[in-house]
Amino acid sequence: MTRVISIISGKGGVGKTTVVINLATALVSKFKRNVTIIDCNVTASHLGLYLGMYYCPVTLNQVLKGEAKITDAVYDHYTQVKVIPSSLSLRDLTGVDITRLKDSIADLSGVDFVFLDSAPGLGREAISTIQASDEVLFVTTPFIPSTIDLIRCNELIKEVKAGSLGIVLNMLSKEKHELTKGEIEKLVELPVLATIPIDKNVPRSLAAREPLLIYQPNSPASKEFIKLAARLIGEEYKIGFLDKIKGFLSLG
Ligand SMILES: Nc1ncnc2c1ncn2[C@@H]1O[C@H](COP(=O)(O)OP(=O)(O)OP(=O)(O)O)[C@@H](O)[C@H]1O
Ligand SMILES: [Mg+2]
Repeated sequence: MTRVISIISGKGGVGKTTVVINLATALVSKFKRNVTIIDCNVTASHLGLYLGMYYCPVTLNQVLKGEAKITDAVYDHYTQVKVIPSSLSLRDLTGVDITRLKDSIADLSGVDFVFLDSAPGLGREAISTIQASDEVLFVTTPFIPSTIDLIRCNELIKEVKAGSLGIVLNMLSKEKHELTKGEIEKLVELPVLATIPIDKNVPRSLAAREPLLIYQPNSPASKEFIKLAARLIGEEYKIGFLDKIKGFLSLG
């Protein structure tokens, strides 16, 4: 059965697209799952850009306009992750109906996971993305504004009746002024499933147009993405002794 999971945040720029790409790469490369990722942020699409996919003749935009089948908008990334990008062209926004998303996804088959990379906040795009998913994974940073925004999102999810999986706490630097995992769990009333450290290799991988897991597989954030992937499928991932040494060497 396909699990359709939307990746949501109240505030922008907290790491949703980064989570989508690296969680998908971890599930494919370490756990042999079939994963499709979809850029549902049609008004500010980044997913294809992050993966170096600039020229895609058919995108989610054409699907949401009713001009193409979703299966024609699927591209094979070299990681084996399947990608449905949104168009970078402003012209392609005309006629897009984001409420078609849910029915379009139903036409995908043979997929274990579909990850929906959402627009931030609670606008039309984000709400349609949540409605198209069975489960919701929240992303926040350890600060008051992004956490407060998340409380509002979680309230809305209860109305939409999608299941809340929990929170990915991203860009942690363990400074004293940051909210702790326990404080965030108490405020949002959801479990923190993963804590991803702030990691210089994340923006570096973005500049290289590669998933972090390919660019620097043993970096601190990569390991947490793998652990999160394992958690999603109910498996435990033990980091071996050699990986630990390699991770130590890749720090900085
Ligand atoms: N753990 C991390 N360590 C360091 N930098 C990070 C980390 N996670 C994300 N970033 C950086 O933060 C920026 C925003 O990340 P990203 O685009 O994934 O956020 P987003 O929530 O998808 O943004 P938007 O709301 O605009 O869609 C990027 O430059 C990314 O490289
Ligand atoms: Mg994004």
